[in-house]
Amino acid sequence: MVSCLMSQIRQIIYVSSSLAELNTDALNQILSVARSNNEKNDVTGVLLYHLGIFLQVLEGAESTIDKLFSTISADKRHKRVIVLSDELIESRDFDNWRMGYINVKDNPPKGLVDLLTFYSNEELALIKDGRAKSLLLSFKNTHSNSIL
Ligand SMILES: Cc1cc2nc3c(=O)[nH]c(=O)nc-3n(C[C@H](O)[C@H](O)[C@H](O)COP(=O)(O)O)c2cc1C
Repeated sequence: MVSCLMSQIRQIIYVSSSLAELNTDALNQILSVARSNNEKNDVTGVLLYHLGIFLQVLEGAESTIDKLFSTISADKRHKRVIVLSDELIESRDFDNWRMGYINVKDNPPKGLVDLLTFYSNEELALIKDGRAKSLLLSFKNTHSNSIL
């Protein structure tokens, strides 16, 4: 029982706005530090960036995610960090990615456009309903070649 509880994974999904529109170099800088730290700390997840908005899922040991999320929340490169879901799960959903990057280019799915619109309009109750997780999982299942 104890070992079962100890092996639980904390998964946080949040959305935030970048302070400025990020170019590829600035994004790569975030991803390269994230990937190297996440490897060391056994953290997995994916980051999506579209039209100045980040959507990220982080998975790992509870205390690790606690610390990492505090660090990320205080990062001055983004603001309006809103947690969409925070749960303990039995196994990772994104175990293949130390920090995958989803690039939807000019073809965002409607679910993502809705989510970003609700966030921009501060209709937060509408985006805390599990849609972000479904959306991220659908990227994993159908666009795994665009998650790098
Ligand atoms: C949108 C966003 C996502 C980030 N994701 C991660 C991440 O998954 N892992 C990580 O270690 N740092 C991430 N960071 C960077 C952290 O905020 C912080 O700069 C970094 O962890 C500091 O690492 P260092 O102490 O090795 O320099 C992210 C930053 C932003 C703006």
